[in-house]
Amino acid sequence: MRETLALRTARLELAPPIADDIDAIHLACQDPAVQRWTAIPSPYTRDDAAAFVARSIERSRTGEECTWAVHDAEGLVGMIGLHRIADGAAEIGYWMSAGARGRGYGAEAGCAVVDFALGPMRLERIEWHAVAGNEASARLAQSLGFRFEGTRREGLRTDGRREDAWIAGLVSTDDRSPVEWPVLAPRTAPLRVRRRRPRPARTSAPRTAASIALQG
Ligand SMILES: CC(C)(COP(=O)(O)OP(=O)(O)OC[C@H]1O[C@@H](n2cnc3c(N)ncnc32)[C@H](O)[C@@H]1OP(=O)(O)O)[C@@H](O)C(=O)NCCC(=O)NCCS
Repeated sequence: MRETLALRTARLELAPPIADDIDAIHLACQDPAVQRWTAIPSPYTRDDAAAFVARSIERSRTGEECTWAVHDAEGLVGMIGLHRIADGAAEIGYWMSAGARGRGYGAEAGCAVVDFALGPMRLERIEWHAVAGNEASARLAQSLGFRFEGTRREGLRTDGRREDAWIAGLVSTDDRSPVEWPVLAPRTAPLRVRRRRPRPARTSAPRTAASIALQG
C-alpha cells in the first residue's frame, strides 16, 4: 500500500504512514501550532502517534480515509490526508513540521493530493475546515484554488473547546485558479495557479484509495 499510493512531487514523496514514521510524527506534533490548530490530543504522546498510524492504515483499508506522510530528502516534514471520504466528497487536512514551513512544501503536497483526489479518485468535492483565524492554513487552501464558503459558529472542537470554523470547498469543475477570500486581506502578489494536470472527464463513480492501490 505504501508504494502503490505513493505520490511524488519535485521535492517530496508522499506515502501512507508506517511504523517507521511514529517517532518523527510524535516529535513534530509537540509543536504548539500543530496542537493549537489541529484536533490532535494535547499533550501528544508516542502512543498517540502509534494509534494515529494504526488508525490511518485501518481507515485506508476501509476507504474512509487516505493519509500520506510527507518526506523530503532529510526525512518526515508533514502529514496530509483526505478524511471522511464518502459520496464523492472528502475533507482535506494537513500539517507541516515547524522547521519545514514557509518553503512551499504544504502547497506542493496539497497540489499532489488535490490532483489525486480529483483525478484517479474521481472525487467531486473536497472540503477544508479550519479554526477561524488560522491564516497559514487558509492561505494554503486559497493557493490550491479552494473557495471560501463561510463560517460555522462553534463548528470545530479543538483542545476540549468549541471554536468558530472557516469552511472552504473545491469542486471538480472549478478551474483551481486562486480567488480572493473575504476573511483574508487581498494578496499583493498575483495568485498563482497550482493546478498540474488536466481534469479527467467525469465518466464513472468515485473510487476508493484502496481500490486504486489494488487496480492501479
Ligand atoms: C498550514 C501549514 C500546513 C502551511 O504549510 P507551509 O508548508 O508553511 O505552506 P507553504 O509554504 O506551502 O505556503 C502556502 C501558502 O500559504 C502562505 N502561508 C504559509 N504560512 C503562512 C503564514 N504563517 N501566514 C500567512 N501566509 C502563510 C504562503 O505564503 C503560501 O501562499 P502563496 O503561495 O500564495 O504565496 C503550516 O503552517 C502548518 O503546519 N501549520 C500548523 C498546523 C495547521 O494549522 N494545520 C492546518 C489545520 S486546518
